[in-house]
Amino acid sequence: MQRHAKTGGSSLVVEDVGKTFGHGTDEHRVIEGLSLRVDPGEFVCIVGPSGAGKTTLLRCLSGLIRPTSGTIRYGDEPLTRPHADIAVVFQDYRGSLLPWMRVRDNVAFPLEGMGVKRAERNRRAEECLHAVGLADVGDKYPWQLSGGMQQRVAIARGLAYEAPVLLMDEPFGSVDAQSRFDLEDLTLSLRADLGITVILVTHDIDEAVYLGDRVVVIGGRPTTVVDNLQVDLGTDRDQITTRADHRFTDLRTRLLTRIREAQAPAERTPARPEPKPAPDETPGGGTAKDGIPKDSPAREKTARAVR
Ligand SMILES: Nc1ncnc2c1ncn2[C@@H]1O[C@H](COP(=O)(O)OP(=O)(O)O)[C@@H](O)[C@H]1O
Ligand SMILES: [Mg+2]
Repeated sequence: MQRHAKTGGSSLVVEDVGKTFGHGTDEHRVIEGLSLRVDPGEFVCIVGPSGAGKTTLLRCLSGLIRPTSGTIRYGDEPLTRPHADIAVVFQDYRGSLLPWMRVRDNVAFPLEGMGVKRAERNRRAEECLHAVGLADVGDKYPWQLSGGMQQRVAIARGLAYEAPVLLMDEPFGSVDAQSRFDLEDLTLSLRADLGITVILVTHDIDEAVYLGDRVVVIGGRPTTVVDNLQVDLGTDRDQITTRADHRFTDLRTRLLTRIREAQAPAERTPARPEPKPAPDETPGGGTAKDGIPKDSPAREKTARAVR
């Protein structure tokens, strides 16, 4: 598959975002004061417990819904609606593939609404099916495929947009363990081949550490960022050796601790002091290592939440 013309795209910057559903006595503040920055080419996993607002955050990042407060920018532009640079793979393939359409047409279908001509739609669909290891199933219907294969079709459809940013919402939650490992490795190799930015939300801490260059932990009531960890496991990951690496298990322990602390604020133990970044890593007026602009008011809030 050819490299995407717009490899990496622009940065996605979330500043002090809040999202509330309902009104009056039905009001439910799901997210508050959440700040986060993802740079072109990064693979960032957002991990948090079920119901924390992961899907809500991803829908905000896709431009499908608007935050109640705060801003989301893609590059220099405020993100207020879906953007051609940002594709989404939704949580459950069973609800997103159309059973009466052949696999090839399922992949090509969304491109029709973007004005892509039929020949180009079919070319992209075949190319993307090939990229996910399904070169020979274009003529089948989704229900003729296993769950893991159907989820590959959903990923192929996300890739067909040729968008430099791919958002994935618990994309492997509905498949068996072996297919899940295969799909994780497929996602890593697609990211390496295409140079795209990937933001993947999951409740699975091990999956987040295995896939991410960085893991952002969200939690609390309402939900905000409670930790932001660089994953220094290199780019060459392996389901057996990487998961057995002590650095992997150390990261998993720290993430689990953070999530538990966020779930039970009254029982929080004092957090370890954050290591101070070296001066050359955070040039004046720029962005600190955790991805939040140094001069942002959201930095203060996030720091408070971590403590
Ligand atoms: N459209 C909506 N209207 C009302 N409440 C919603 C809506 N979408 C999500 N919620 C609520 O927001 C909370 C977070 O949901 P969600 O983002 O799906 O969490 P997660 O993906 O982390 O499991 C849940 O309590 C859910 O009921
Ligand atoms: Mg969800």
